[in-house]
Amino acid sequence: MNTADSGESVVALVPAAGRGVRLGANMPKAFVEVGGSPMVRLAVEGLLASGAVDRIIVMVPADLVESAVALLPGSSVSPADAVQVVVGGAERTDSVRAGIAAAPDAAYFLVHDAARALTPPRLIAEVAAELRAGHAAVVPALPVVDTIKAVDGSGTVTGTPDRAGLRAIQTPQGFAADLLRAAYAADVAATDDAGLVELLGARVRTVPGDPMAFKITTALDLTLAETLAARLDLIAPLS
Ligand code: C5P
Repeated sequence: MNTADSGESVVALVPAAGRGVRLGANMPKAFVEVGGSPMVRLAVEGLLASGAVDRIIVMVPADLVESAVALLPGSSVSPADAVQVVVGGAERTDSVRAGIAAAPDAAYFLVHDAARALTPPRLIAEVAAELRAGHAAVVPALPVVDTIKAVDGSGTVTGTPDRAGLRAIQTPQGFAADLLRAAYAADVAATDDAGLVELLGARVRTVPGDPMAFKITTALDLTLAETLAARLDLIAPLS
């Protein structure tokens, strides 16, 4: 899997325990199919294809552990296997925490949402390479195309930050393992892992993101992903 062969283990954590309410499907989002494959399988295949990870831990809802093992090739609930399925938690933060706990051997973590199912393996490899080059926290970032406004509780605009200084952040997010462990040692919540690391005062490096690493969140995103998968034959090269 990991062609860098440095002896320092890169462990990918794949949060796939969300209920996916915004997608409107009648199953957890990570298990919804894109181009005939469940998103979680596409995400795992992308990580494998990157050649940058030694082990993958997938966090799923408790009632779907068996289903996940059945649909992820080479997986089991054992840490001895290259792909391990563990039970996630109520919030994304809880799911990542469960993954961290299952990997005491990791030197580096790549946290990668199952919902970013079409992420190019090249981007995954690049984040891992930046980690190995000595950056303790690395995230893919894209310029934002919309103007972003801050609003108060009533929806009234309170400010317009300069768009030039804003980025939309994707996954995989890479971390030196001890840094991510420290960030999760406190009882905190955040929508991304780098946000927790920032609270510790760590520097977070950005690398150019990729539009294909978009998060499949809404029914519109799913339509886009299906179209891309069908038209660009994206699924075959990953498997
Ligand atoms: O809800 P959101 O789109 O931010 O979720 C991002 C990722 O986190 C998804 O892959 C989802 O399955 C995962 N997640 C999780 N455990 C939760 C909530 C979300 O693993 N409790």
